[in-house]
Amino acid sequence: MASDLQDRDRPILFFDSGVGGLTVLREARVLMPDRRFIYVADDAAFPYGAWEEPALRDHILALFDRLLGRFEPEISVIACNTASTLIIDALRQAFPDHPFVGTVPAIKPAAERSRSGLVSVLATPGTVRRQYTRDLITNWAAKCHVRLVGSDRLASLAETYMRGGFVDEDAVRAEIAPCFIEQDGRRTDIVVLACTHYPFLVNRMRKTAPWPVDWIDPAEAIARRALSLLAPRDLHQVPAGAGDRDDLAVFTSGKADFAATRLMQGFGLAIA
Ligand code: DGL
Repeated sequence: MASDLQDRDRPILFFDSGVGGLTVLREARVLMPDRRFIYVADDAAFPYGAWEEPALRDHILALFDRLLGRFEPEISVIACNTASTLIIDALRQAFPDHPFVGTVPAIKPAAERSRSGLVSVLATPGTVRRQYTRDLITNWAAKCHVRLVGSDRLASLAETYMRGGFVDEDAVRAEIAPCFIEQDGRRTDIVVLACTHYPFLVNRMRKTAPWPVDWIDPAEAIARRALSLLAPRDLHQVPAGAGDRDDLAVFTSGKADFAATRLMQGFGLAIA
Protein backbone atom coordinates (compact mmCIF):
# COMPACT_ATOMS: atom_id res chain seq x y z
CA MET A 1 0.00 0.00 0.00
CA ALA A 2 1.43 3.37 -0.99
CA SER A 3 1.68 5.78 1.92
CA ASP A 4 3.21 9.14 2.72
CA LEU A 5 3.18 8.30 6.40
CA GLN A 6 6.43 7.29 8.08
CA ASP A 7 6.16 4.00 9.97
CA ARG A 8 6.60 5.89 13.25
CA ASP A 9 3.41 7.87 12.58
CA ARG A 10 1.29 4.96 11.55
CA PRO A 11 -1.18 3.66 14.13
CA ILE A 12 -1.80 0.13 15.32
CA LEU A 13 -5.31 -0.94 14.45
CA PHE A 14 -7.29 -3.08 16.90
CA PHE A 15 -10.36 -4.83 15.65
CA ASP A 16 -13.27 -6.62 17.32
CA SER A 17 -17.01 -6.96 16.91
CA GLY A 18 -17.54 -4.85 20.02
CA VAL A 19 -15.74 -3.72 23.16
CA GLY A 20 -13.99 -7.05 23.84
CA GLY A 21 -10.80 -6.11 22.01
CA LEU A 22 -10.24 -3.45 24.66
CA THR A 23 -8.99 -6.25 26.92
CA VAL A 24 -6.10 -6.65 24.47
CA LEU A 25 -5.68 -2.95 23.79
CA ARG A 26 -5.16 -2.18 27.50
CA GLU A 27 -2.20 -4.60 27.55
CA ALA A 28 -0.83 -3.10 24.34
CA ARG A 29 -0.96 0.42 25.73
CA VAL A 30 1.13 -0.62 28.71
CA LEU A 31 3.74 -2.22 26.45
CA MET A 32 3.70 0.52 23.80
CA PRO A 33 2.91 3.85 25.44
CA ASP A 34 4.57 5.68 22.57
CA ARG A 35 2.29 4.25 19.88
CA ARG A 36 -0.92 5.54 18.38
CA PHE A 37 -3.98 3.27 18.37
CA ILE A 38 -7.17 3.02 16.37
CA TYR A 39 -9.83 0.79 17.89
CA VAL A 40 -12.52 -0.49 15.54
CA ALA A 41 -15.68 -2.00 17.02
CA ASP A 42 -17.78 -3.58 14.31
CA ASP A 43 -20.88 -3.05 16.40
CA ALA A 44 -23.08 -2.90 13.31
CA ALA A 45 -22.40 -6.64 12.94
CA PHE A 46 -22.27 -7.66 16.64
CA PRO A 47 -22.42 -10.47 17.71
CA TYR A 48 -20.11 -12.35 15.35
CA GLY A 49 -20.80 -15.59 17.22
CA ALA A 50 -24.12 -16.01 15.46
CA TRP A 51 -22.98 -15.36 11.85
CA GLU A 52 -22.71 -17.98 9.11
CA GLU A 53 -19.06 -18.38 8.07
CA PRO A 54 -19.17 -17.31 4.37
CA ALA A 55 -21.16 -14.15 5.09
CA LEU A 56 -18.90 -13.15 7.98
CA ARG A 57 -15.79 -13.80 5.88
CA ASP A 58 -17.00 -11.54 3.05
CA HIS A 59 -18.12 -8.88 5.48
CA ILE A 60 -14.76 -8.65 7.32
CA LEU A 61 -12.67 -8.73 4.13
CA ALA A 62 -14.66 -5.85 2.64
CA LEU A 63 -14.47 -3.90 5.88
CA PHE A 64 -10.69 -4.31 6.10
CA ASP A 65 -10.26 -3.06 2.58
CA ARG A 66 -11.82 0.22 3.73
CA LEU A 67 -10.08 0.35 7.12
CA LEU A 68 -6.59 -0.18 5.75
CA GLY A 69 -7.17 2.53 3.15
CA ARG A 70 -8.55 4.96 5.70
CA PHE A 71 -6.10 4.54 8.59
CA GLU A 72 -2.95 3.11 6.96
CA PRO A 73 -1.99 1.19 10.13
CA GLU A 74 1.47 -0.28 10.58
CA ILE A 75 -0.10 -3.53 11.77
CA SER A 76 -3.59 -4.79 12.62
CA VAL A 77 -4.51 -6.87 15.64
CA ILE A 78 -7.61 -8.97 15.18
CA ALA A 79 -8.61 -8.89 18.85
CA CYS A 80 -11.43 -11.33 18.31
CA ASN A 81 -11.32 -15.14 18.40
CA THR A 82 -14.53 -15.52 16.41
CA ALA A 83 -13.05 -13.50 13.55
CA SER A 84 -9.45 -14.76 13.79
CA THR A 85 -10.34 -18.45 13.74
CA LEU A 86 -12.32 -17.83 10.57
CA ILE A 87 -10.40 -15.30 8.62
CA ILE A 88 -6.83 -14.68 9.73
CA ASP A 89 -5.40 -16.69 6.82
CA ALA A 90 -7.73 -15.03 4.28
CA LEU A 91 -6.76 -11.57 5.55
CA ARG A 92 -3.06 -12.37 5.17
CA GLN A 93 -3.71 -13.61 1.64
CA ALA A 94 -5.86 -10.64 0.67
CA PHE A 95 -3.43 -8.06 2.09
CA PRO A 96 -0.01 -9.71 1.82
CA ASP A 97 1.97 -6.54 2.61
CA HIS A 98 0.17 -5.86 5.82
CA PRO A 99 1.03 -7.70 9.07
CA PHE A 100 -1.89 -9.18 11.03
CA VAL A 101 -1.81 -10.52 14.57
CA GLY A 102 -4.61 -12.94 15.37
CA THR A 103 -6.25 -13.98 18.62
CA VAL A 104 -7.01 -17.68 18.81
CA PRO A 105 -7.97 -19.92 21.73
CA ALA A 106 -5.00 -20.46 24.09
CA ILE A 107 -5.34 -24.24 23.93
CA LYS A 108 -1.61 -25.00 23.79
CA PRO A 109 -0.65 -23.15 27.01
CA ALA A 110 -3.73 -24.58 28.71
CA ALA A 111 -2.75 -28.14 27.81
CA GLU A 112 0.81 -27.52 29.00
CA ARG A 113 -0.36 -26.10 32.32
CA SER A 114 -3.21 -28.44 33.21
CA ARG A 115 -2.46 -30.93 35.97
CA SER A 116 -5.80 -32.74 35.87
CA GLY A 117 -5.87 -33.00 32.06
CA LEU A 118 -9.39 -31.54 32.02
CA VAL A 119 -9.47 -28.24 30.18
CA SER A 120 -12.47 -26.20 29.05
CA VAL A 121 -12.57 -23.62 26.27
CA LEU A 122 -15.21 -20.96 26.78
CA ALA A 123 -16.00 -19.17 23.52
CA THR A 124 -18.72 -17.94 21.19
CA PRO A 125 -20.73 -20.56 19.29
CA GLY A 126 -18.83 -19.48 16.15
CA THR A 127 -15.37 -20.15 17.64
CA VAL A 128 -16.50 -23.50 19.01
CA ARG A 129 -17.67 -24.57 15.52
CA ARG A 130 -14.46 -23.61 13.70
CA GLN A 131 -12.19 -26.20 12.15
CA TYR A 132 -9.30 -23.95 13.28
CA THR A 133 -10.26 -24.54 16.93
CA ARG A 134 -10.61 -28.30 16.40
CA ASP A 135 -7.16 -28.37 14.79
CA LEU A 136 -5.64 -26.56 17.78
CA ILE A 137 -6.98 -29.32 20.02
CA THR A 138 -5.72 -32.11 17.77
CA ASN A 139 -2.29 -30.52 17.40
CA TRP A 140 -1.62 -29.30 20.92
CA ALA A 141 -3.94 -30.96 23.41
CA ALA A 142 -4.21 -34.55 22.29
CA LYS A 143 -3.40 -35.77 25.82
CA CYS A 144 -6.10 -33.66 27.46
CA HIS A 145 -9.82 -33.91 27.56
CA VAL A 146 -10.89 -30.57 26.09
CA ARG A 147 -14.49 -29.49 26.47
CA LEU A 148 -15.68 -26.78 24.08
CA VAL A 149 -18.35 -24.57 25.62
CA GLY A 150 -20.15 -22.20 23.27
CA SER A 151 -21.94 -19.38 25.05
CA ASP A 152 -24.75 -17.47 23.36
CA ARG A 153 -24.92 -14.79 26.00
CA LEU A 154 -21.60 -13.95 27.61
CA ALA A 155 -20.32 -11.48 24.97
CA SER A 156 -23.56 -9.50 25.21
CA LEU A 157 -23.43 -9.61 29.00
CA ALA A 158 -19.88 -8.22 28.86
CA GLU A 159 -21.08 -5.42 26.55
CA THR A 160 -23.82 -4.56 29.01
CA TYR A 161 -21.46 -4.70 31.96
CA MET A 162 -18.83 -2.46 30.36
CA ARG A 163 -21.47 0.11 29.42
CA GLY A 164 -22.48 0.35 33.06
CA GLY A 165 -25.51 -1.94 32.89
CA PHE A 166 -26.62 -4.61 35.34
CA VAL A 167 -25.38 -8.17 34.88
CA ASP A 168 -27.04 -10.85 36.90
CA GLU A 169 -24.62 -13.23 38.63
CA ASP A 170 -26.95 -16.16 37.99
CA ALA A 171 -26.76 -15.51 34.24
CA VAL A 172 -22.95 -15.70 34.36
CA ARG A 173 -23.12 -18.82 36.58
CA ALA A 174 -25.40 -20.57 34.07
CA GLU A 175 -23.16 -19.73 31.10
CA ILE A 176 -19.95 -21.01 32.72
CA ALA A 177 -21.46 -24.08 34.44
CA PRO A 178 -20.82 -26.50 31.51
CA CYS A 179 -17.08 -25.75 31.78
CA PHE A 180 -16.81 -27.63 35.07
CA ILE A 181 -16.37 -31.38 34.82
CA GLU A 182 -15.60 -34.02 37.45
CA GLN A 183 -14.34 -37.32 36.11
CA ASP A 184 -12.63 -40.25 37.84
CA GLY A 185 -11.67 -38.10 40.82
CA ARG A 186 -10.27 -35.34 38.60
CA ARG A 187 -11.71 -31.89 38.01
CA THR A 188 -11.36 -29.23 35.34
CA ASP A 189 -8.47 -27.01 36.41
CA ILE A 190 -8.21 -24.57 33.48
CA VAL A 191 -10.77 -22.53 31.58
CA VAL A 192 -9.52 -20.77 28.45
CA LEU A 193 -11.22 -17.42 27.90
CA ALA A 194 -11.49 -17.74 24.12
CA CYS A 195 -13.47 -14.58 23.50
CA THR A 196 -11.89 -11.21 24.16
CA HIS A 197 -15.06 -9.95 25.85
CA TYR A 198 -14.86 -12.51 28.65
CA PRO A 199 -11.96 -11.16 30.75
CA PHE A 200 -14.21 -8.21 31.61
CA LEU A 201 -16.44 -10.68 33.46
CA VAL A 202 -13.73 -12.81 35.02
CA ASN A 203 -14.38 -11.61 38.57
CA ARG A 204 -18.02 -12.61 38.22
CA MET A 205 -16.86 -15.94 36.84
CA ARG A 206 -14.50 -16.53 39.77
CA LYS A 207 -17.28 -15.74 42.18
CA THR A 208 -19.83 -18.05 40.58
CA ALA A 209 -17.49 -20.93 39.66
CA PRO A 210 -18.19 -24.19 41.56
CA TRP A 211 -14.44 -24.51 42.35
CA PRO A 212 -11.32 -22.43 41.69
CA VAL A 213 -9.66 -22.81 38.28
CA ASP A 214 -6.99 -20.97 36.33
CA TRP A 215 -8.68 -18.63 33.81
CA ILE A 216 -6.39 -18.11 30.81
CA ASP A 217 -6.57 -14.69 29.18
CA PRO A 218 -4.16 -14.41 26.24
CA ALA A 219 -4.30 -10.60 26.02
CA GLU A 220 -0.77 -9.92 27.21
CA ALA A 221 0.68 -12.56 24.90
CA ILE A 222 -1.18 -11.04 21.94
CA ALA A 223 0.10 -7.57 22.79
CA ARG A 224 3.67 -8.90 23.07
CA ARG A 225 3.32 -10.58 19.70
CA ALA A 226 2.18 -7.27 18.18
CA LEU A 227 5.13 -5.47 19.73
CA SER A 228 7.53 -8.03 18.28
CA LEU A 229 6.29 -7.32 14.75
CA LEU A 230 6.71 -3.55 14.88
CA ALA A 231 9.67 -1.78 13.40
CA PRO A 232 12.09 -1.16 16.28
CA ARG A 233 12.32 2.38 17.65
CA ASP A 234 14.89 4.26 19.61
CA LEU A 235 12.66 5.09 22.56
CA HIS A 236 14.95 7.93 23.62
CA GLN A 237 14.03 9.67 20.37
CA VAL A 238 10.30 9.44 21.03
CA PRO A 239 9.00 12.64 22.64
CA ALA A 240 7.28 12.22 26.01
CA GLY A 241 3.55 12.18 25.48
CA ALA A 242 3.78 10.77 21.96
CA GLY A 243 1.07 8.17 21.63
CA ASP A 244 -1.28 10.13 23.90
CA ARG A 245 -2.53 11.95 20.84
CA ASP A 246 -5.17 11.04 18.36
CA ASP A 247 -6.12 7.61 19.63
CA LEU A 248 -9.49 6.92 18.09
CA ALA A 249 -12.44 4.57 18.44
CA VAL A 250 -14.55 3.78 15.41
CA PHE A 251 -18.01 2.22 15.69
CA THR A 252 -19.09 0.79 12.36
CA SER A 253 -22.73 1.60 13.17
CA GLY A 254 -21.70 5.24 13.30
CA LYS A 255 -23.61 5.44 16.59
CA ALA A 256 -21.75 5.67 19.85
CA ASP A 257 -24.15 6.41 22.68
CA PHE A 258 -23.20 8.16 25.90
CA ALA A 259 -22.14 4.95 27.67
CA ALA A 260 -19.97 3.81 24.75
CA THR A 261 -18.37 7.24 24.44
CA ARG A 262 -17.56 7.29 28.17
CA LEU A 263 -16.13 3.79 27.99
CA MET A 264 -13.87 4.67 25.09
CA GLN A 265 -12.75 7.85 26.85
CA GLY A 266 -11.80 5.69 29.81
CA PHE A 267 -9.50 3.78 27.48
CA GLY A 268 -8.04 7.03 26.14
CA LEU A 269 -9.91 6.88 22.83
CA ALA A 270 -11.88 9.67 21.18
CA ILE A 271 -14.81 8.74 18.92
CA ALA A 272 -13.85 9.15 15.25
N1 DGL B 1 -14.91 -10.68 21.14
C1 DGL B 1 -15.21 -11.68 20.20
C2 DGL B 1 -14.28 -12.87 20.30
O1 DGL B 1 -13.19 -12.78 20.80
C3 DGL B 1 -16.60 -12.10 19.88
C4 DGL B 1 -17.86 -11.48 20.37
C5 DGL B 1 -19.01 -11.71 19.39
O2 DGL B 1 -19.10 -10.92 18.46
O3 DGL B 1 -19.78 -12.67 19.54
O4 DGL B 1 -14.61 -13.94 19.87
